[in-house]
Amino acid sequence: MRSDGFWANNGRFYFPEEMPSSAGEVYVKRTIAIVGGTGAEGSGLAWRWALVGETVVIGSRDASRAAARAAEIAKRMPGACIEGRENAAAVAEADIVVLTVPFSAHAETLRHIKSSFRPGAVLIDTTVPLAATVGGKATRMLGVWQGSAAEQAAEFAPKNVAVAAAFHALSAELLEGEERVDCDVVVCSNDENARKVTMELAARIEGVRAINGGPLETARLSEQLTALLISINIRYKVHGVGIRFTGLPDSELKA
Ligand SMILES: NC(=O)c1ccc[n+]([C@@H]2O[C@H](COP(=O)([O-])OP(=O)(O)OC[C@H]3O[C@@H](n4cnc5c(N)ncnc54)[C@H](OP(=O)(O)O)[C@@H]3O)[C@@H](O)[C@H]2O)c1
Repeated sequence: MRSDGFWANNGRFYFPEEMPSSAGEVYVKRTIAIVGGTGAEGSGLAWRWALVGETVVIGSRDASRAAARAAEIAKRMPGACIEGRENAAAVAEADIVVLTVPFSAHAETLRHIKSSFRPGAVLIDTTVPLAATVGGKATRMLGVWQGSAAEQAAEFAPKNVAVAAAFHALSAELLEGEERVDCDVVVCSNDENARKVTMELAARIEGVRAINGGPLETARLSEQLTALLISINIRYKVHGVGIRFTGLPDSELKA
């Protein structure tokens, strides 16, 4: 995949030699690796970002499974910039790495991909430490020594990789379609650039408002909120309960 192009705010992608002087503000093209991207949440995010022209590499423990999922998305969206790789190989190509594995595989997966990160990459952790990942209830949380899955990710990640936590309350069910998503995404990070990159990426999903959730330790709260949303899903027999925060200034938010 060629990775030296830019997105312009006219919604078009240009290679440097094609860039017209009238293209306006440009976005540097980046590669997003989705570790565990064959699953429901990772595939949903991959699909939504492929839809808006991002370059996506689906990661899996099995390269052929990743390639098959990437091919399915490319079939839905001809021209999509999407491929599949084994997880560590996907990470090695990426500027942004999104971790979408069950909590039971969190530490092991981070150990596996640790040496493959590009220096300065951003790691976005979506993991919710639900008791269901170890055979318990989906409406209960596991205790995590570091405080949250995201803080565990920060402990395992290389020092030159900044971590953000996001997407905990954005259901895979909502991501798999093409409809506008009616949901806010809380982004937590101790790193200004990681927060900015993650908020911008979240807001590329139509309908999502990215909310600055503050430092990474706040992920303790946003991860826990998912257990409540699952419990409400069960009670109302629905699948895509999300959250919207009220009282925020519209001028600072995009939806
Ligand atoms: N589903 C949602 O609506 C939702 C919403 C918000 C956040 N999340 C979070 O996103 C993460 C993924 O959720 P999901 O529903 O997509 O999960 P999932 O479908 O159960 O698993 C995602 C992928 O993780 C990989 N995986 C599974 N077990 C593994 C293991 N033992 N070791 C390494 N990799 C393993 C698998 O990929 P390969 O077999 O191809 O390697 C699988 O396709 C979870 O942490 C969840 O809390 C989910």
